[in-house]
Amino acid sequence: MDFAAIDRQIHALEECIEHTVPVGADERLSVGVDLGTAYIVVVVLNSLKQPVACAMEFAQVIRDGLVVDYIGATRIVRKLVGQLEQRLGRTLQHAAIAVPPGTGVKDCATHTHVVEGAGLEVVSVLDEPTAANAVLGVSNGVIVDIGGGTTGLSVLEDGQVAYVADEATGGNHVSLVISGSYGIPFEEAEVLKKQPDRQRDVLVVVRPVIQKMASIINKHIQGRDIAGIYLVGGTCCLRGMEDVIAADTGKPVYKPANPFLVTPLGIALNCHP
Ligand SMILES: Nc1ncnc2c1ncn2[C@@H]1O[C@H](COP(=O)(O)OP(=O)(O)OP(=O)(O)O)[C@@H](O)[C@H]1O
Ligand SMILES: [Mg+2]
Repeated sequence: MDFAAIDRQIHALEECIEHTVPVGADERLSVGVDLGTAYIVVVVLNSLKQPVACAMEFAQVIRDGLVVDYIGATRIVRKLVGQLEQRLGRTLQHAAIAVPPGTGVKDCATHTHVVEGAGLEVVSVLDEPTAANAVLGVSNGVIVDIGGGTTGLSVLEDGQVAYVADEATGGNHVSLVISGSYGIPFEEAEVLKKQPDRQRDVLVVVRPVIQKMASIINKHIQGRDIAGIYLVGGTCCLRGMEDVIAADTGKPVYKPANPFLVTPLGIALNCHP
């Protein structure tokens, strides 16, 4: 696995959040829409599958992978797509989406309707670990996606998803603990935990929550031959959390430079596979 190449790809995506990369008038564009518990992220790639534009919004319209505010979700996706179309000077047509593993047919259809309601045709629906693995390329190991609401695991054996699990501990729990410890509202805790210069103090306070995530990983990998743990999802951005996971699992842990953007990028890579 070429970790440096993965980080370069993610860095290019980070760059195009602010700086749109010009595209040709006829170039085929790939779009990925990640409907998460905490963030809705839309990624656009050019015909070479390089990131050209990205937009996101903090939103509480999805819970544990299910759409709880259909109209709100559609409105946000439409807004983000509109912004990206304006930035690129192009109409966006096709998109890929992803759902947590094990999502039923009806709930997949709801995700599709949200994105199609925003004017895109959904050409690919995949599960989130498969999306993340389009970037990571793990053959043997476990991808652990710690988002806002849940810790999701996917064990890969010979490049195939062999086992999945999803448990309700995520970034929201981290913020709740910060909120309680510092006596500040949840929203302030969300801001505080993302401040790079505060992450050292934050980690001390939230260590038990990270240890809970490690115990979820341990529970699900027990009895399996796991070569390594690959961390993705916004909560893994917390500096030093990877050391807690490594200590409590005894496994080698790999974390890309920006774990938050791995799944959104992987979704877009699957738009025209
Ligand atoms: N720099 C950071 N440090 C700590 N936490 C962060 C950072 N950036 C984002 N987060 C947290 O990551 C979470 C969002 O991550 P992500 O976008 O992967 O989740 P999601 O896909 O919306 O949720 P889920 O996968 O549970 O549906 C939020 O709880 C957010 O506060
Ligand atoms: Mg997610």
